[in-house]
Amino acid sequence: MTENERILNAEAPALSKAARVKYFNIVIESGKGATVTDADGKTYIDLLASASATNTGHSHPHVVKAVQDQAAKLLQYTPAYFANDPAAKLAPRLAALAPISGPTALGWGNSGSDANDAIIKFARAYTGRPYIVSFTGAYHGSTYGSLSLSSVSLNMSRKIGPLLPDIIKVPYPDPWKRLSGEPEAAFVNRMFDAFKLPFETYLPAEEVAAILIEPIQGDGGIVKAPAAFMHQVYDFAKANGILFAVDEVNQGMGRTGKWWSIQHFDLEPDLMSVGKSLASGLPLSAVIGRREIMNSLDSPANAYTTAGNPVTAAAAMATIDVIEDEHLLARSIRLGKKAAAFFEDEKQKFSFIGDVRMYGLDGGIDIVDPVTGKPDSEATAKLVYRVFELGAIMIFLKTNVLRFQPPLVITDEQLQAAFKILDQAFSELAADKLSLPSNVDEIGW
Ligand SMILES: Cc1ncc(COP(=O)(O)O)c(C=O)c1O
Repeated sequence: MTENERILNAEAPALSKAARVKYFNIVIESGKGATVTDADGKTYIDLLASASATNTGHSHPHVVKAVQDQAAKLLQYTPAYFANDPAAKLAPRLAALAPISGPTALGWGNSGSDANDAIIKFARAYTGRPYIVSFTGAYHGSTYGSLSLSSVSLNMSRKIGPLLPDIIKVPYPDPWKRLSGEPEAAFVNRMFDAFKLPFETYLPAEEVAAILIEPIQGDGGIVKAPAAFMHQVYDFAKANGILFAVDEVNQGMGRTGKWWSIQHFDLEPDLMSVGKSLASGLPLSAVIGRREIMNSLDSPANAYTTAGNPVTAAAAMATIDVIEDEHLLARSIRLGKKAAAFFEDEKQKFSFIGDVRMYGLDGGIDIVDPVTGKPDSEATAKLVYRVFELGAIMIFLKTNVLRFQPPLVITDEQLQAAFKILDQAFSELAADKLSLPSNVDEIGW
């Protein structure tokens, strides 16, 4: 029995099935930069970055040192009662990074999920309105509030309702909804009509507190909303006193080549959620908003025992240092261009590669049936499994979207090595040499 198997077998009886999306049966033992090593000593190039939670790479020395120094000083005292120095320094630094002009304030959380719950709380409190509008295909988290906002996986809501009331879902303008030959402007108009339909039929706009959107959907397939659509939604919100809120948990912290994905649209949110890579993957999140909104709730409406923990805050300070000092935004853009060129080339070679979307080092690559153009989930499972065997970690989103989100510190050499692995897997699929993993029925969302 391998060491991976031994550890997984020991864990299996005690771990709820609900706690993990299965892909590969390995145990991650260590990580460095853009590689991780499993319990049997095999090293992989990480094209997932812990679900975009380690943009600064695994165990970055500057982040590790900050964590070690802070842990030796004070591991935890609840920020719900007393301030700590790292979080007190981080709050203004992070608030200043937010793409919101004018005074901002923030509240801490432990996960992206609770940061999105906080958006619901603050939006309702500030506006005195009940409804929140979110989008199909969105993933906002797994707490009751954030999963009520989400619609990306049936298993996330199956058997656990009733969910939070007064959440309305409107269609996200993803490329799969575009009719063949439909020009962008016509597509945007059609999607905006679908967006407005609830408001014209049963949802009084003056009762809506916030519209929450991922400007680039992550788990929905790495999909950027058309700019014209975003502007129409934003203008609609502003015209109706509705707060415009964005979820930056997956796409923020430099992932797309900007600090925040909303900066691709030249729009300012009223509220935003941040998590994942904020503290290089340690449990820290934040809801950030215009100060008057963030002061609309009284203590202790959004306090948690461990949110704003000194060690996680020190990790976040160091994470921001690394993103700035190592110019990771520029790096995401530069390497993202290489990745886009690679996947576009492969698309010319292999007819099963459909749409390629790349925003910095942030990619979604559709795998389709060459004849029908429809999603090919079997080919996708074969591919990610072969890529794994060849030494890179990559998963799929939906049923057929390759998720390409390496740590932003990935080296040029590692990126080339990853391209070589991907090219080999694509070639083998084209030659019909790949088989399905034996656990195909249980992998994926
Ligand atoms: C866009 C987005 N929002 C929120 C979340 C939830 O974050 P967490 O898993 O830290 O609660 C995720 C997680 O994948 C996400 O991708």
